Amino acid sequence: MRRPLFPVTTLLLVVAVASAAACPDDCTCSFIASSRGTRGRPEMRVACKGLSSLPQAIDYPTETSTVVIRESRLTGIPTDAFKGVPYLTRVEIHNSSVAAVGAFAFRGLDRLSHLIIRNNAIQVLQSNSMGDIKGFRNKKIIIDLEHNAIQVIEGHAFNGTSFVSSLLLSNGNPIVTLRTDAFSGLQYVNLLELHLPHLLSIEPYAFRGLWNVTRLTLSGFSVAQLPAHAFSGLESVRTFVMSNVTVDAIESRAFEDVYGFTNLKIANASIGAIRTDAFHGARETMNFVITMSHIGLIETYAFHGMDDVYLYQIYNNDIDAIEQRAIVGVRFYTFFYNNRLDCGCGVYPLFEEHMIEANVPIVENNRCQEPKEIVDVDASGASSLRKSDRIGEIVNGPALILQCAPSTAPVRTVSGLLTALVVVGSMIVLI
Ligand SMILES: *[C@@H]1O[C@H](CO)[C@@H](O)[C@H](O)[C@H]1NC(C)=O
Ligand SMILES: *[C@@H]1O[C@H](CO)[C@@H](O)[C@H](O)[C@H]1NC(C)=O
Ligand SMILES: *[C@@H]1O[C@H](CO)[C@@H](O)[C@H](O)[C@H]1NC(C)=O
Ligand SMILES: *[C@@H]1O[C@H](CO)[C@@H](O)[C@H](O)[C@H]1NC(C)=O
Ligand SMILES: *[C@@H]1O[C@H](CO)[C@@H](O)[C@H](O)[C@H]1NC(C)=O
Repeated sequence: MRRPLFPVTTLLLVVAVASAAACPDDCTCSFIASSRGTRGRPEMRVACKGLSSLPQAIDYPTETSTVVIRESRLTGIPTDAFKGVPYLTRVEIHNSSVAAVGAFAFRGLDRLSHLIIRNNAIQVLQSNSMGDIKGFRNKKIIIDLEHNAIQVIEGHAFNGTSFVSSLLLSNGNPIVTLRTDAFSGLQYVNLLELHLPHLLSIEPYAFRGLWNVTRLTLSGFSVAQLPAHAFSGLESVRTFVMSNVTVDAIESRAFEDVYGFTNLKIANASIGAIRTDAFHGARETMNFVITMSHIGLIETYAFHGMDDVYLYQIYNNDIDAIEQRAIVGVRFYTFFYNNRLDCGCGVYPLFEEHMIEANVPIVENNRCQEPKEIVDVDASGASSLRKSDRIGEIVNGPALILQCAPSTAPVRTVSGLLTALVVVGSMIVLI
């Protein structure tokens, strides 16, 4: 009568086999002690090294919440790679050879909070590769793709995500092209800072879909053009800063449909041309700044459409040429000073709008005769050369003084040698 022993042994064997099978090969599985947010469920960390292929979902322990894969020989992450690992909140893939991420690779991970793919070899972030990543209720998701070799972000790479609040992308990715709809789907991102020293092109609507970004900072790139609709779709951006960039042309309507822009600042830029209607569409902008930049040409009506600008600050720039009526519709205070600008290339048409409003006749011959630069604009009145930045009062004020100096002269020493174009009352006088 020894029968009871046999079933007990069988049961022990079955348990041993089950727990061995529950940790994938080349991985170690350990429970995470006292982790937050478990709601009483045990959480398991699966750490893998040297994998040559991804484990099957069935190989992971049911409790798996974190998967960390490092120094693997994985070259790709297929569609639905982790589907069937239901409690996964964190996926990290480091220092491997991942070059391709398939469409919807991380789909179905309803509790995901961190997706980290660092130090891999992704060159093209394919359409839908980050597609359908959805968090758990309001839990925010961080996606970190730094230090890959990403050159191109294809349109709709982030299609259908929700709750992705942070995207870490610029470090260690030589991004060359931002395709149309590159960021579409990332409607929960609030702040976006992109330093893109390798960037060569921004396609129209590249930023569409970032509905919730309130501040966008772009720096470091050198592109042929900011095309029409480059920034369309950034509906919530209040502050836009672009610095340390080289742009051959800001094309007409590059800033179309950016209704929310309140602060628009361009600094340390080299801009070949600002085209007619370049900023058309940024019509709620109140503070507009261009500073420390080189600008080849500001075309007629370049700032047309920015009807609400309260403060134009265009200062410390090196400007080669400004077409007639470049600055129109400027209603309020305008700061325009320390711009190296040729006095001889028709500077007063720059302020033509003001002169028309002030009933100042335009006398064609009264221009600087020799190459000189505007070193200051003074509208403080009469013949005073006291430094003042405002020309806004020209509409109501008595005088506009453009302080010009020979282009070889130090910018600051303006007295004595000075030739000034002075608007007194309704007259333009050349002294
Ligand atoms: C990846 O490799 C880098 C340098 O080789 C190392 O500093 C880093 O700690 C590694 N990361 C992981 C998660 O192993
Ligand atoms: C976006 O994802 C959905 C599935 O969620 C798919 O049907 C659609 O085709 C995708 N859109 C693009 C442009 O790839
Ligand atoms: C935008 O962000 C706010 C809070 O930051 C959030 O409540 C809202 O759902 C977001 N909208 C979209 C469309 O993601
Ligand atoms: C721009 O370049 C200057 C100097 O070259 C640097 O001090 C500054 O931090 C840069 N700003 C950005 C936003 O890259
Ligand atoms: C512009 O460059 C100067 C110095 O070169 C730096 O101090 C400043 O922070 C830069 N501005 C921006 C907005 O990057």
